[in-house]
Amino acid sequence: MREIKKAKEMFLWSQRHKNHGKTVGFVPTMGALHEGHLSLISEAKIKCDMVVVSIFVNPTQFSPAEDYNNYPRNYKNDKNTLKKMEVDVLFMPEVPEMYPPGTKTFVEVEGLSKRLCGISRPTHFRGVATVVAKLFDIVAPDIAFFGEKDYQQQLIIKQMVRDLNLPLEVVSLPTIREFDGVAKSSRNINLNERERKAAGVLFKALKMAKEEIEKGEKDPKRLIMRLRSLIAGEPLFRIDYVVLADPETLEDAKHISGKVLIALAGYVGKTRLIDNMVVG
Ligand code: PAJ
Repeated sequence: MREIKKAKEMFLWSQRHKNHGKTVGFVPTMGALHEGHLSLISEAKIKCDMVVVSIFVNPTQFSPAEDYNNYPRNYKNDKNTLKKMEVDVLFMPEVPEMYPPGTKTFVEVEGLSKRLCGISRPTHFRGVATVVAKLFDIVAPDIAFFGEKDYQQQLIIKQMVRDLNLPLEVVSLPTIREFDGVAKSSRNINLNERERKAAGVLFKALKMAKEEIEKGEKDPKRLIMRLRSLIAGEPLFRIDYVVLADPETLEDAKHISGKVLIALAGYVGKTRLIDNMVVG
């Protein structure tokens, strides 16, 4: 596995392989890799000749109040994992390589970025869209892979790719979960035993919502109230939002029919957790 830190070198590597007729698959990450990330890498290996994984904890997607410095970092383990998976390139730029002093340009995907997580994290998706656009320019992949665990994020990236005519395909893949249904997340490392148990309430709520919808529940307000009271039964969990939305526009569902996105977010202690499910 080749390790690259410089954008220019990454770009040239990619161009060389594409000129030789190879397809390049790309999995952007912030590291502290787990099986969710690995499922994206496995799919990239199936679909593409060459696979690039990036690890970059992106400062612009954290607000000043959020803990960029405490985001889990585990570079040594990550490198070993990626080597074992026979990834072709690990792209691991430093912050000034991605944001040289004087950087002034940001990418904003309107509408979608202001819903769900965008309400309590108003600058988050601007940071995500900007870094992903830059990574796409540098890595120039044919296909990029994202997880549905971050449902809103993959939707925003797909919108950005369409709007900016970026020459690649975006593939999204299902959420990988722990034995008890909790979505795998780099942030789970920060949970103590009691908090880890409390995190299970999100999946319980998603399951309950799915069952209620399958039994014929049509009223989003009533279902949201039931979800809120189920989640409130877990005193360590502090709700940010409980939303039933259109899976394409993220607009609040007025009536449950066809496909509906159930999206949940909140905090256990200081750790922010999100989860979602599309039903119907
Ligand atoms: P990160 O949280 O490291 O996630 C990298 C990719 O892994 C994302 O596409 C995310 O949706 C996916 N992923 C995370 N947990 C998953 C799970 N349990 N099952 C399936 N896929 C999962 O998302 C980011 O990093 C950043 O915002 C990034 C896109 C890299 C931009 O900085």
